[in-house]
Amino acid sequence: MKKILITGISGLVGGVITGKLKDKYTITGVDRRKFNDVPTLQADCTNLERVLPAFNGIDVVIDLASDPNQYSEWDVIHKTNLICTSTALEASRISGVERYIFASSNHVTGMYEFDSPYKEIVNGDYSKVDNKNFQLLTTQMPIRPDGPYGIGKAFGEAAGRYYSDKYGLSVMCLRIGTLNAESAPTNTRQFSTLLTHNDLARLVISCIEASKDIRFGIYYGVSNNKWKFWDTSNSLQEINYKPEDDAESFR
Ligand SMILES: NC(=O)c1ccc[n+]([C@@H]2O[C@H](COP(=O)([O-])OP(=O)(O)OC[C@H]3O[C@@H](n4cnc5c(N)ncnc54)[C@H](O)[C@@H]3O)[C@@H](O)[C@H]2O)c1
Repeated sequence: MKKILITGISGLVGGVITGKLKDKYTITGVDRRKFNDVPTLQADCTNLERVLPAFNGIDVVIDLASDPNQYSEWDVIHKTNLICTSTALEASRISGVERYIFASSNHVTGMYEFDSPYKEIVNGDYSKVDNKNFQLLTTQMPIRPDGPYGIGKAFGEAAGRYYSDKYGLSVMCLRIGTLNAESAPTNTRQFSTLLTHNDLARLVISCIEASKDIRFGIYYGVSNNKWKFWDTSNSLQEINYKPEDDAESFR
């Protein structure tokens, strides 16, 4: 069984991944909060020396530790998110980890949502949108972060690219849409952005199992929603991610 380390395991995303994947992989965790499901080091992920032992012998790191609040101010991003990310990358490099999967965010490109037709879609104003003919946002398009949180995630993607190019770490960045406890839309925007728990598991397994030849990739983490506006065709081609759920079924 592959050995997987999840940072930030005690949170929502970590709990879902652990629950769905723990029979398939040997999962361990690190978090400043306690977690009882699998062996977890209780430590602050901004402290390289403290967390380094958890990376020993690991094949794949799933790096979730950060403040997930999209409205976080600069001081939080500086003190927590940037340092958690750079620490996990450095620990992965030192420990010879094969693959690093980064919990990036759709907020790296959040400013597109203020332009048409995305703003109409997130507001549920579907009659103003030609469903067949709008441009999906691809991971090739320029980033347009919508605040310090999104900028911090763009930092993580750039740092991941550097560790891939410089040190040969295989890096995959997941621009997660909305992963909530309900695994169902709780507002209008989420009919576009929802990533169900089962599709999250499919996405993470796709990343873990993808060819070692993939050195770097950015993938939107979204279900197969009727009104999704992020392109997942590169995920299908490169890592064989096939989302099966559609938020529309909850309408
Ligand atoms: N849930 C979503 O819809 C979503 C969307 C996009 C990106 N993400 C990203 O996915 C990751 C997980 O999000 P979540 O929704 O599970 O959030 P969460 O708050 O439920 O979990 C985050 C976990 O990280 C831990 N953590 C934070 N700072 C830490 C530190 N310095 N040291 C050790 N542990 C620390 C927390 O204790 C917590 O258990 C985050 O990086 C978030 O930005 C989530």
